[in-house]
Amino acid sequence: MLSQRNLVTSVLNQLAMEARRATAPPQQGATNGTGGANGVQAPSDGSAPDDGENQPVAGEADGGRGRRNRIVTAKTTVQPIIMERIDVSVAASLEPDELERQIGEIVAEVLVEQRIQLNRSEHKQLVRLLVNDMLGLGPLEPLLADESVTDIMVNGPKQVYVERAGKLDLTDVEFRDNAHVMNIATRIVTRVGRRIDESTPLVDARLEDGSRVNIIAPPLAIDGTSISIRKFAKKKITLDVMARQNNISEAVASVLKIASRCRLNILISGGTGSGKTTLLNAMSRLIDHGERIVTIEDAAELQLQQPHVVRLETRPPSLEGLGEITMRDLVKNALRMRPDRIILGEVRGAEALDMLQAMNTGHDGSMCTLHANSPREALTRLENMVAMSGFKLPPAAVRTQISDAINLIVQISRMRDGMRRVGKVSEVIGMEGDVITTQDLFHFEFEGEGSDGKLIGTFHSTGLRPNFSPRAEYFGLGDQLLEAMGCR
Ligand SMILES: Nc1ncnc2c1ncn2[C@@H]1O[C@H](COP(=O)(O)OP(=O)(O)OP(=O)(O)O)[C@@H](O)[C@H]1O
Ligand SMILES: [Mg+2]
Repeated sequence: MLSQRNLVTSVLNQLAMEARRATAPPQQGATNGTGGANGVQAPSDGSAPDDGENQPVAGEADGGRGRRNRIVTAKTTVQPIIMERIDVSVAASLEPDELERQIGEIVAEVLVEQRIQLNRSEHKQLVRLLVNDMLGLGPLEPLLADESVTDIMVNGPKQVYVERAGKLDLTDVEFRDNAHVMNIATRIVTRVGRRIDESTPLVDARLEDGSRVNIIAPPLAIDGTSISIRKFAKKKITLDVMARQNNISEAVASVLKIASRCRLNILISGGTGSGKTTLLNAMSRLIDHGERIVTIEDAAELQLQQPHVVRLETRPPSLEGLGEITMRDLVKNALRMRPDRIILGEVRGAEALDMLQAMNTGHDGSMCTLHANSPREALTRLENMVAMSGFKLPPAAVRTQISDAINLIVQISRMRDGMRRVGKVSEVIGMEGDVITTQDLFHFEFEGEGSDGKLIGTFHSTGLRPNFSPRAEYFGLGDQLLEAMGCR
């Protein structure tokens, strides 16, 4: 609590400093002859300004942009004055509601002094913006609070996109300038004990609620600091939910459940943001509560429900380039922790070799995600990643390792209607010469497009008897598996 308060104090001090630095901040109570920054003149006959709530206001015709501009312009005038007037240490000690109430009172005074006319709801929004700037992540706060937003992408100060229901939308959220974006970025990373500046322009972090954040600053980001936030999914997306949403069919859900229960080694493959981690989370729910699970990630996102889970996270090198702990280090270490299963958030490099070895040495039921556009490409990528480990293994040997280790590949993608769908479920069945052989169990067949723009299609079972049927039988799930595959 104390550190949080210190942080708030430093943030407020910073804002106060910015306010002092601001060029020619309007003096308290001064009339600058323009009638306030937004140019809305108070009545010159001295009559009280109308509340304005029901008044048509210039700019309203442009669908709220004008309204927003008025609030933003008012904020530019009001903020420096407010920061001059408040006692920073007292403000930092207040609960957010109380701070909002008190700021509201000061804002009302300042608006009158500055002859800025805002209606009640604009006044409220202005106070919220000011408080968000002081306490939270400024302009990002409303997007963080909006449950329908899953991703937030800041491309410099004037362009903020969000993803809702799988579709990207440009928002009207803006930052003052690049320094403002950097200010918010700094707030995010200082909370997790990191820093962002020209010498460390690339940072991964996590918000307090578990949302994953990546920040890349100039000079690497040419048009200004870029912040990408993958919001923590509050809604639990299980395989049943996915089946209801048509991300998969009931039959695919059954086969994936059986595959998780009978400890197959599973690779979830897909493009960026295709739903790999979400699917991995959903499949991990089927893991028996008696098992010891070790999870390894770059930024912890997995939400395992089991009681016996050890979560490991990699560590970037320090500013001096020391102390880095890689995925590879963690996979090796995990093997000494007597895990029943190892779950790797995403396999990207040399750790692929250690993961395959783990899968081949009794850690059945391991799962990981990988970035690829088809099951076949996933296998090739895995092979290339093994090559990154520096061991000069003949390709055939690597492929044999892969075909022995991996049982199932689930391919997921975000299709052009924004829906995430499992496009293919393939089994790795062995080798023919030095080629890994696979057989498809399911594939999504595109059939057309509905009037609502949603793709229409069917998840087809190939009707083949899965290679892992004997194993399913061993776990008492043989009949269920054949039924889900439509084999009987
Ligand atoms: N089946 C689904 N239904 C609804 N939302 C989903 C579904 N799958 C994923 N999402 C949402 O899509 C976003 C991306 O999902 P996720 O993090 O699982 O993708 P990813 O492939 O792991 O991404 P990355 O490549 O960045 O690691 C998240 O906000 C998530 O909540
Ligand atoms: Mg992911």
